[in-house]
Amino acid sequence: MPTAQLPEGAPATLMEAFGHIVAVKTPSINDLKVMVLVEAAGLEVYRQTAAQFDHPGVRALLIENGYDEFKHSLRVSDAIRAMTGEDFPSPSPADNPYLKGEIPAFGEATAAALLGLSQAEFGGKDLYEGWAVHCGNEEAARLFRMNGQEEADHGGRLVEAAKLLEG
Ligand SMILES: [Fe+2]
Ligand SMILES: [Fe+2]
Repeated sequence: MPTAQLPEGAPATLMEAFGHIVAVKTPSINDLKVMVLVEAAGLEVYRQTAAQFDHPGVRALLIENGYDEFKHSLRVSDAIRAMTGEDFPSPSPADNPYLKGEIPAFGEATAAALLGLSQAEFGGKDLYEGWAVHCGNEEAARLFRMNGQEEADHGGRLVEAAKLLEG
């Protein structure tokens, strides 16, 4: 698969894309394409974050979140198809333009960093909930709500991981 193209006007880096996406209330199709790339990148970002931790239970929880992020990318891709008929497939890590530069870790290998990240994940539930309400497409709304529910699960796993780390 060739490297996916950044949509017109898209943020240039993964960190900028995160910053952009969290402020979007009613996503444009280009915003949704950025989200396909961001969620697909989550697989690799969580994998690298997991590698920072020695605790096998913590690593397992982070990797589980990463697999879900890739699933979210597939669902957002499906939502784009439901809304427009357009194909914008989820790229593998090797083909993701947001994984070309330096990959930002989610934080340091501490319980506090995991709890900080859990807040971002709980926020992801609200973000997707809002998109479900505003997107104007029943199938896309259903897919966004499924993703949102799992973002809350991610927050819960990170709280659990922080507890494991504190012993
Ligand atoms: Fe996600
Ligand atoms: Fe998540």
